[in-house]
Amino acid sequence: MLRPLLFVALLCVLVMYYRQGSSSSSVPSRSSSSSSSSPRRKTPPDSPAYQKPFSSSDQTTHANRVVAVGDLHSDLPQTLAVLRLAKVIDNDANWSGGRDTLVQTGDIVDRGPDTIAIYNLFDKLRSQAKEAGGQVVNVYGNHEVMNLGGDLRYVTEEDYASFGGREKRKQAWNVKTGWLGKMIYDNFNITHVQNGHTVFSHGDMEPEWARLGVDTLNHLAREAIWTSNYYAPIFQGSGPIWSRSHAMLEGGEEETCRRVNEVKTALGVNRLISGHTPQYQTGKILSICDGGYMVIDVGISRYYGGHLAVLEILENDDGTQSVYALYPGGKRLV
Ligand SMILES: *[C@@H]1O[C@H](CO)[C@@H](O)[C@H](O)[C@H]1NC(C)=O
Ligand SMILES: *[C@@H]1O[C@H](CO)[C@@H](O)[C@H](O)[C@H]1NC(C)=O
Repeated sequence: MLRPLLFVALLCVLVMYYRQGSSSSSVPSRSSSSSSSSPRRKTPPDSPAYQKPFSSSDQTTHANRVVAVGDLHSDLPQTLAVLRLAKVIDNDANWSGGRDTLVQTGDIVDRGPDTIAIYNLFDKLRSQAKEAGGQVVNVYGNHEVMNLGGDLRYVTEEDYASFGGREKRKQAWNVKTGWLGKMIYDNFNITHVQNGHTVFSHGDMEPEWARLGVDTLNHLAREAIWTSNYYAPIFQGSGPIWSRSHAMLEGGEEETCRRVNEVKTALGVNRLISGHTPQYQTGKILSICDGGYMVIDVGISRYYGGHLAVLEILENDDGTQSVYALYPGGKRLV
């Protein structure tokens, strides 16, 4: 009984709105004094925004969106699940993130069978994202560097088989002549700063390295890989692909946050994001130092428990960022 009445009432309201909107240009005082949120009344009817109130030009006033995921370890089903949770791929695994930025903090390879499929997926998404005005960022993990350098301790038999054997795999990973080595060398860096506010690295960024600056770090890593210098200092334990010093709270939380703040100052960023140290006991993103340092390796691969989590950073118009953790159960401020 009530439903048809409600429907008629709604229809009346809509008709009234439409009439007011289309006549607003002849009554300018009304539209300018109106505090209505309806775009029709704010915008002259003949402007493009009026014709298409939700056109893509509208999006420039929205916050830019950055999503980041941690270690994937050759687990394709979990990779697809976490990228869907991040809302950057559709059911066909094509890019659906529009102008979003997706950051993956390394360790795509090892401990599972799906190495080729995941690197190829990222390669496809990289070009699809670019076409849509978005971006895919890949950061070296210690496992990428190990495989490039011939340290194959964590390669599974299924992985070898997927390349067609050990010799073919070795050829594929050659940075100068191999299809995968070239793909990685051309598209990965050891660290990435997103729009000046957030630095991403696989392991922890320590102040001694941060002080060199991001461009120098990326140059050092590229040069070391190109010259097969896998004993270079940047690939040692305190460097940005291996360090766990913040994640392990070495020297206590206060000392860790003091060092985190040193990195923030050196790079002029608001936060440091790492993968590498799996938070599989909680399955949740670790956030300490008032959100100044976070670990997003929650153990996404089934080898580490199969936990899904995405870090989401919304770039607000006032220059601040809102940071969330996305879980299958919902979204939380971190
Ligand atoms: C997904 O992308 C492929 C090309 O990479 C294309 O052939 C296919 O049609 C796309 N699927 C959808 C649903 O857009
Ligand atoms: C890698 O880093 C260098 C220096 O920071 C930068 O110029 C280059 O564009 C980066 N490459 C990619 C693929 O992001």
